Amino acid sequence: MTATTAIGAGLNRIEAAAKVTGAARYAGEIPLDGHAYGSVVQSTIARGQVTMIDADAVLARPGVLAVLTHDNAPRLHRADDTDAELLVLQDDRVRYRGQAVALVIAETLEQARAGAELLDVTYQPEDHDVVFAADHPRLYAPEHVNPNYPTDTSVGDVDAALASAAIVVDATYSTPAEHNNPMEPHAAIAQWDGDRLTVYDSNQGATSVRQALTTLFGLADGAVRVLSEHVGGGFGAKGSTRPHAVLAAMGARFTERPIRVTLTRQQMFAMVGYRTPTIQHMRLGADADATLVALEHTAYSQTSQVLEFAEQTALISRLMYAAPNLRTRHRVVALDVPTPRWMRAPGEAPGSFALESAMDELATACGVDPIELRVRNEPSVEPDSGLPFSSRNLIACLHEGAERFGWASRDPRPGVRRDGRWLIGTGVASSTYPARSAPSTAAATALADGSFVVEITASDIGTGARTALTQIAADELRAPTERVEVRIGDSDFGQAMIAGGSMGTASWSWAIAKACRELLHTLHEIGTVPPEGVTAHADTAEDIKAQAQLSRHAFGAQFAEVRVDVDTGEVRVPRLCGVFAAGRIINAKTGRSQLIGGMTMGIGMALLEEGVMDPQFGDYVNHDLASYHVPVNGDVHDIDVSWIDEHDDRLNPVGVKGIGEIGIVGTAAALANAVWHATGHRHRHLPIRPDRVLTSLA
Ligand code: MOS
Repeated sequence: MTATTAIGAGLNRIEAAAKVTGAARYAGEIPLDGHAYGSVVQSTIARGQVTMIDADAVLARPGVLAVLTHDNAPRLHRADDTDAELLVLQDDRVRYRGQAVALVIAETLEQARAGAELLDVTYQPEDHDVVFAADHPRLYAPEHVNPNYPTDTSVGDVDAALASAAIVVDATYSTPAEHNNPMEPHAAIAQWDGDRLTVYDSNQGATSVRQALTTLFGLADGAVRVLSEHVGGGFGAKGSTRPHAVLAAMGARFTERPIRVTLTRQQMFAMVGYRTPTIQHMRLGADADATLVALEHTAYSQTSQVLEFAEQTALISRLMYAAPNLRTRHRVVALDVPTPRWMRAPGEAPGSFALESAMDELATACGVDPIELRVRNEPSVEPDSGLPFSSRNLIACLHEGAERFGWASRDPRPGVRRDGRWLIGTGVASSTYPARSAPSTAAATALADGSFVVEITASDIGTGARTALTQIAADELRAPTERVEVRIGDSDFGQAMIAGGSMGTASWSWAIAKACRELLHTLHEIGTVPPEGVTAHADTAEDIKAQAQLSRHAFGAQFAEVRVDVDTGEVRVPRLCGVFAAGRIINAKTGRSQLIGGMTMGIGMALLEEGVMDPQFGDYVNHDLASYHVPVNGDVHDIDVSWIDEHDDRLNPVGVKGIGEIGIVGTAAALANAVWHATGHRHRHLPIRPDRVLTSLA
């Protein structure tokens, strides 16, 4: 066998040619014989009851096959862990505006959509409550915050420490609702064969969708197969089963034909989750030498009437800086709104905006450089838990970034650099994201011709995961990557972690490494591969259970330069620089793209993205890409991404920390800090819109 150095190389995506030629099929393009189309009808009230659905006129239209409503839809089963958002068309209650109230099924997409638009639904509306506020009377402390962290933590005595601190920063920050907009809208096509269900679905984890559908339709283990070979982005919006997949399966059962349900871009704003708005109260106290004596982070977020989603916004403050007195709290209010969900770096993205902005304000108040402030408050163990870090290279990232960005020559005074209409400033923020792994299974097969096949229910949502896993398998098998085929996105390959929480590659690589090592061991023993090949299976559940308790995180430093137009209030971003310490980077090309993508999304978070709630109608009014703005090419200039060589052997066998999310963490704060440096005005509420900038300059 040939030795390889596949890991780390900037290998092109293995499916690149298939994608650019259209050979790669996405869920909404799978051509099943005789399929029809389902179009979702959404509620037009935020709270109340469906009193009547008159389907006759729609059923009489050409091509219409059925109208599914709560009266005739198949009954679903629920288990303790069933996502209540998936119990579609089971009762007449409307719990948010945009909830599915019917599915119109027709021979063509146009017929289905026309029918859906014409369907006559009568409601009995009730007063709704959709306005999120930090003084909402129904705020409560959830039992835990996502995914399973304590709601509140407290070390020492924050109030006493703040009372005697030389310098105090006490400020409130807010971030708006933000909406996941992967390029590929959610889509599924479902087909029944007796009590067996096959669904091609766009998601971040086929086995989790298989599990949900098995429960909902009361099926036997193994009766559901979910296929998701190519997925056009997710950002968390496809991290759990979404109603479109359930509706497709219901429609297929009802009509006894394969049914395809594709969400429109507009429908996604209510049906696939979004980032909760947050309000965050920060209190930081420091000695005269800029040593933190107290840090308090209180975070407010919203959830729905359907189920509790408690964003872990203040988690970041439990680990970033050494503060002997440290308190974090989360409060949530259930409104008549769609359920918030995961969106790239849930918790850390909004949380880092508040913490890293407050640290910048503290640096100014103490008269120290913001990098020096972070160096002085670098903890030796995780402050909240006392656990040792498996590795922590935040300071190295800050120093490396300062070098690359040219921080040393920075004049700390705000509002003094002007180039014509433009005020110029720079800012810095820290970044972090958890580095966890979750149980997964994999199979590795040696074929008689000397090639290998690896099967794992991994999901490549455009990240390059399939390519990275091929590199890992090739490295383990000591074979060239061309001899290794990695098959993904089929729930029949067995249970595996979703592409989420930046845990995909860490989790899958563990299972793949284990299967490949086992396979090599077997091959060594038997000497030669029999004609039918040899397969080794792996399951990492026990390995992960046996892991030592450590604080495992990736860290990074974000630098930003902004130019602020004093006449229009527009903020431009000529430069971003991110340096990350994220364990072993498997593929230099796709890895860099992930980090650039995260930082680009951070530009959106800082300057553009904002779901605007209409209190009267109870909906996010800007629910399309014409009115909900994300960064486009013209908004993105020089993004310099690099990483520090980090060898952490206490993570997983391949030493992976995960890079899907850390790129967005801290970016918005670095930009807000740069806007302060440019203008002298502190923006504590995102996004930093032109009107807000102009108001501050006036
Ligand atoms: Mo990511 S928001 O954990 O899918």
